[in-house]
Amino acid sequence: MSEELTILKSATREEQYKNLLPQIEALISGEKDLIANLANISAALKQSFDFLWVGFYLVKENELVLGPFQGPIACTRISFGKGVCGTSWKEMKTIVVEDVDKFPGHIACSSDSKSEIVVPVFKNGVVEMVLDVDSSHVACFNHTDELWLTKICRLVEAKLS
Ligand code: SME
Repeated sequence: MSEELTILKSATREEQYKNLLPQIEALISGEKDLIANLANISAALKQSFDFLWVGFYLVKENELVLGPFQGPIACTRISFGKGVCGTSWKEMKTIVVEDVDKFPGHIACSSDSKSEIVVPVFKNGVVEMVLDVDSSHVACFNHTDELWLTKICRLVEAKLS
């Protein structure tokens, strides 16, 4: 596996994801260790886009616990239904937050975070972890991010089964 990521800096977000997805697939295809794969996915996303924070929170003993990530230090534990991550877990769906100040209960790990997307990762219909991406810009995320980050989470799910 090549350790060089090809990044299309001046392409559209859609083109960038399209270029990135097969590279992530290749990156994790030969590795069965979950933490190693989550770490590389976080790094690939952080490296490709100008996101503030990219990482995973894993469900452990009925809490979300900080997993592999790239970016500033973050809170380590999030309760069920709390913050954007805990809400995504509870509602078992992707949540796109245009302006974190307008999301009741948003957990501000960094005051630089202005918008956020959280995508759940399932195993046998149960949320196993969430992918959390933060931006320092308001309204950074839309349906394109939801679509492609979900595809990336599907790759993770395929490794869980
Ligand atoms: N903002 C998240 C907490 C995690 S940090 O953004 C890394 C939330 O409200 O769940």
